[in-house]
Amino acid sequence: MIDLRSDTVTRPTPPMRRAMAEADVGDDVYGEDPTVIRLEEEAAARLGRPAALLCPSGTMCNQLWLRVLARPGTEVVVEADAHLVNYEGGAGALLGGVQFRTVTGERGLLAPGDVAAAIRPDRFPITPTSLVCIEQTANRGGGSVYELDRLEAIRKVTANAGVPLYCDGARVFNAAVATGTDPAAYAALVDGLMFCVSKALGAPVGSLMVGEADAIAEARVWRSRYGGAMRQAGVVAAAGLVALEQMVERLAEDHAHAHLLASAAAEVRAGIVDADRVETNIVMLEGVDAAAVVAALRQEGVLAGAMDPRTVRMVTHPDVSGDDAERAAAVLTRVLAALPASPAPPPGG
Ligand SMILES: Cc1ncc(COP(=O)(O)O)c(C=O)c1O
Repeated sequence: MIDLRSDTVTRPTPPMRRAMAEADVGDDVYGEDPTVIRLEEEAAARLGRPAALLCPSGTMCNQLWLRVLARPGTEVVVEADAHLVNYEGGAGALLGGVQFRTVTGERGLLAPGDVAAAIRPDRFPITPTSLVCIEQTANRGGGSVYELDRLEAIRKVTANAGVPLYCDGARVFNAAVATGTDPAAYAALVDGLMFCVSKALGAPVGSLMVGEADAIAEARVWRSRYGGAMRQAGVVAAAGLVALEQMVERLAEDHAHAHLLASAAAEVRAGIVDADRVETNIVMLEGVDAAAVVAALRQEGVLAGAMDPRTVRMVTHPDVSGDDAERAAAVLTRVLAALPASPAPPPGG
């Protein structure tokens, strides 16, 4: 099977497994795991921020940043398709005590003017805005990238309003490699950021919060409260270090593979995807009978995901070789060519 459901399905590479087996470890709750400390220092350095904190998941990082940067009983402005809103089990409301003010962007990207319009003042009984969140890359937006100028403009808006800006940078290294931007340039424009080593960087576990030292110290307390403090976590941090050392530059291959898949799809069915807008490792096929496409692909050894009844997602990653990508593109071509001419209507419509 060629598994394109997500870049979370990657298995640790042989160098990661070796590093994990040989990792120097200690009790990280006592601050004594040298490998965790190295990974946190490396993450902070790569993103150009003073401090970092290793967490078990991207979701936990997002939730901890909500605790640290937002205030319970306020609003968080976020794009309507964001992971924070859609795929975290309502944790922002349940654990963070915030409500989301969602804004529909283009390909998952917020426009500075829309952010300005969505920010609400702190004047009772208005529910004030305490945080603005962006997602880099925008997952449901098809792996789209916030270019620096858009991010700078959003930063100006949030700074004028006195509201902090947070980046769910689960795939910030994909954005950096796709645009040739230093990831630190993105991190410099936000008050907090998280990124995952467990996605296309191939590590089995782990995400890192990066930001100011006092914010990270506060997050460390909340990480314990949320049950995310780990003991000999150097075993997983070791793989994270290999991910940062060996797996960043190669992301360009994943992006080329995603482009190949999108081009194959667009050639058979104009309009379901614009290959020129596939910037990173995520391909969204829109306006198809998603269940039928996913089932037909599976029959031919390709796994994809149905994001909703009309949208199929395919994600490239290190476990998809060049040969796999070509084979998947050929299968996709056959499957799409065999689909009925008009896509299935949406449910109930
Ligand atoms: C944009 C984004 N943020 C956060 C997460 C959460 O990461 P995790 O699965 O490690 O909790 C994901 C996971 O796919 C994601 O795509």
